[in-house]
Amino acid sequence: MVEAENLIDPKLIPAHGGPPHHLFDQWREQDPVHWNPPLDGYESPMPGASISRGFWVLTRHQDVIEVSRDQEMFSSHEGGPIIWDLEPQQLAMQRANIMGMKPASHRETKKIVVPPFTSAELAAFHPDIDDVATDIVDAIASKGACEFVFDVASQLPVFTFCRLLGVPERLRETVFTLGNQAADTENPARADQDNSAPLALLAIARELAEEKRVKPDDSILSRLVHGEVDGAKLDEDNIGMFFVTLSIAGHETTRNTAVHFIRLMNEYPDQYQLLLSDVDEHLPNAIEEVLRYSPPVVKFRRTAMADTQIGKQRIKRGDKIYLSYPAANRDPTVFSDPHKFDITRANANRHLAFGSGPHFCLGARLARYQLTALLKEIITRIPDIHPNGNLEMLPSIWFNAVIRMPVAFTPEDLRPRQV
Ligand code: HEM
Repeated sequence: MVEAENLIDPKLIPAHGGPPHHLFDQWREQDPVHWNPPLDGYESPMPGASISRGFWVLTRHQDVIEVSRDQEMFSSHEGGPIIWDLEPQQLAMQRANIMGMKPASHRETKKIVVPPFTSAELAAFHPDIDDVATDIVDAIASKGACEFVFDVASQLPVFTFCRLLGVPERLRETVFTLGNQAADTENPARADQDNSAPLALLAIARELAEEKRVKPDDSILSRLVHGEVDGAKLDEDNIGMFFVTLSIAGHETTRNTAVHFIRLMNEYPDQYQLLLSDVDEHLPNAIEEVLRYSPPVVKFRRTAMADTQIGKQRIKRGDKIYLSYPAANRDPTVFSDPHKFDITRANANRHLAFGSGPHFCLGARLARYQLTALLKEIITRIPDIHPNGNLEMLPSIWFNAVIRMPVAFTPEDLRPRQV
């Protein structure tokens, strides 16, 4: 192992153009539950957060699944779902978030928030998603070039998030800007240098919650305001943190999958040609393979609630555990020839990009629909789209994210007509 390489270093992912698979492969083979020490001099961009203690990194597919499924032994609540060690106030906010709740509250809260994400309710929303995907491509198709991350990939997730949460038109632009800033916590060039974007989103959530209290509608925010957990209404912090969580969880993730898709299709032209030969046939599995090969979320955290064992490794009560989705997705015991990008891979959808167990991504079905709508519109209307200029990655310890990708393509009106 290269001593200097530490998963806490936000420069690691940009330096390797993605998650450090050379380390994951080596650890999975020789040391599958690997100890990652703290990094000297590391400063968290989030006030009240630090890495004072090391953690165990899981690299095997099976271990990530087993630990994710056992939320009594491996808690998202105890130390929160993120790897930083948090001061009490920060930890309280993470615990107010659906991802960090105690198992019983989590189950009850899910009863309120799951219905809008079921296929029956989402189906009613599909025509709007299709229309917005068309509008996004209409806005760039004649230009011949654009910056893909913000002009294209970011737009649909933010629209969707606003629609689901019942954000009125007048606040959409503000929520779009704040959502982008909040998602880029670790970007040193971010606009909210004081990390104020999540707090500003929280303030908007409170304002909107008040409106929905007086005037209910069918949005998720309204359901949260009027729904009950254990016979009691959700408190302000739970509602606000759900709003902030969706603005990040539903946004940066989906946008980066679209970015990785375009990037990978350019890197593997034979796979792209295969996709173009029958878009309806290949697109759904191509999206799964992109999620497997280049998952946008790099990790979540659990905390051991008692002395235990993962594989042959003894784990002490209170130890932090890092679930590595990119490492699990390249586990050769599950995916043959795991470093090969293959859009016809039969079991691509066994990837863990959406996690596993009780905290499995609430928005997975929605994300898949958005990605299919947007990517189909792009590759059928401007199929020669390709990165054109320097691609910039986000310095981050938890997102495999691109923050700038200029692209070029033949303008739609100059393309020969298909007969
Ligand atoms: C490609 C897109 C996406 C990826 C890769 C992704 C990834 C993930 C992962 C890995 C988790 C598991 C967290 C854990 O186990 O601690 C998660 C949870 C979650 N995701 Fe997503 N996500 C995506 C899109 C979305 C969207 C579109 C939404 C909503 C609009 C969303 C909302 C959530 C929520 C609310 C949770 C917490 C669920 C719970 O704790 O029960 N995600 N996501």
